[in-house]
Amino acid sequence: METKIAVLASGAGSNFKALVAGDTGPGTVDILLTDNKDAGALKLAEELGIESKYLYPGKYKTRFGIVEEEFWARFLIHRGVELICLAGLMRIIKGPLLEAFHGRIMNIHPSLLPAFPGLDAQGQAFNYGVKVAGCTVHYVDNGTDTGPIILQESVVVLESDHRDSLAERILTKEHEIYPKAVKAHCLGRAVYSKVVR
Ligand code: GRF
Repeated sequence: METKIAVLASGAGSNFKALVAGDTGPGTVDILLTDNKDAGALKLAEELGIESKYLYPGKYKTRFGIVEEEFWARFLIHRGVELICLAGLMRIIKGPLLEAFHGRIMNIHPSLLPAFPGLDAQGQAFNYGVKVAGCTVHYVDNGTDTGPIILQESVVVLESDHRDSLAERILTKEHEIYPKAVKAHCLGRAVYSKVVR
């Protein structure tokens, strides 16, 4: 049976595109929601023929207002959406949307979590001097990049690398593992870690 997916993105939207184009099994991207009217993802949605909506975020900068989360939770439930994929969403989800979709919200993060959560994970890893970086798909809980891990992929840091070249190779891996993790979830086969914190 088809699983309707809503993708939430604030930026360029390359992971959104990967989810539309990739093999997500019974998962189908139904709608793109964005909190940024200038998001590249909006243009991509138009090109890909996917419906999109601007998601008014409320008065906060790093999260959504409660009323706005409530509205979108109701909107997505009514639409029959069963899985939410965060793809470069620059806000945390904490309230009614997380409650309504607990265990059914995924995120992609450009580091091997639990190392380097938060902003500019690729820069954090590069500046730390790690030899192996990577990316992670995880379920979203009420922390920042802390939920149960579903899939990870490593990327070897080369001597010639700078922050951006590393980030580019990580992004290529992101596009591979996100559809895989979504497919596993939609087939009921996602195997994920326990979170100890
Ligand atoms: C990706 O690196 C993703 O891991 C992070 O934000 C970036 C979004 O890129 N959460 P894009 O908009 O999908 O191209």
